[in-house]
Amino acid sequence: MKSFNGTVLVVGATGRTGVWVVKRLQHYKIDFHLFVRSGNKALELFGPEVVDKLTIGSIEHPDEIKAAIGHAAAVICAIGGSVTDPKAPPPSAIDRDGVKRLALIAKESGVKHFILISSLGVTKPDHPLNKYGQVLTMKLEGENEVRRLFSEQGYSYTILRPGGLIDGPPLKHTLLFDTGDKISTGVIDRSDVAEVAVISLSTPEAHNLSFELIQSNEAEQSTLTPYFKQKEFTTK
Ligand SMILES: NC(=O)c1ccc[n+]([C@@H]2O[C@H](COP(=O)([O-])OP(=O)(O)OC[C@H]3O[C@@H](n4cnc5c(N)ncnc54)[C@H](OP(=O)(O)O)[C@@H]3O)[C@@H](O)[C@H]2O)c1
Repeated sequence: MKSFNGTVLVVGATGRTGVWVVKRLQHYKIDFHLFVRSGNKALELFGPEVVDKLTIGSIEHPDEIKAAIGHAAAVICAIGGSVTDPKAPPPSAIDRDGVKRLALIAKESGVKHFILISSLGVTKPDHPLNKYGQVLTMKLEGENEVRRLFSEQGYSYTILRPGGLIDGPPLKHTLLFDTGDKISTGVIDRSDVAEVAVISLSTPEAHNLSFELIQSNEAEQSTLTPYFKQKEFTTK
């Protein structure tokens, strides 16, 4: 993969997909900074070598986001609010307002590429998952703001809409990419979602694109970049 030279801010780095985003950035030797709610959790997950790469805060607080953005050239956002914990902020506060706030501050701070992990089904208000705090609708509103802000010339966005997330190692399955929210069901390893997010940094076909992704057959993959280049996908 062609490498990416700037610093990438990972938001939600201590989440299950976020951890894989960090691992894949490390794999490609791409510089990163982490925005996390718990420094201890980050140190437990990534070790003392990340101690100088942490900003502690919540996506609810603009000043904490500003402190984290620093000199990041790109953002990979893997946050998600809880839909089951009644004490947690609702999806409207995290997946909509939090993402909108993060995208605006990122744009104002000079971030050029915003990569958002969203979800399959966001355009379907009647989807069963949407009964939990309208989480899919909230994610769509977050997506819309990212698209609005980062489609301006000189900026770009990549919005990944994965199917149900599962936990296995990366590069073990063929993938299916599509656009238009037509895939009704499917699963994908968080590690592959992370890999696709990271390669999006330096894959021109991934820029200014919103797409769904699920896994297909078990088969060792040397790279996931060709999935962006399939004729039937890129010409849609
Ligand atoms: N579960 C599925 O099957 C599925 C399917 C499609 C899409 N998705 C979406 O894919 C994304 C990644 O999912 P996941 O399962 O990897 O998520 P996850 O493990 O639940 O991690 C979510 C991350 O968001 C962080 N976070 C939550 N509220 C925050 C706040 N106020 N400020 C800063 N960070 C905050 C959490 O921090 P802490 O570590 O401190 O808790 C955690 O790091 C989510 O948007 C999810 O909705 C999920």
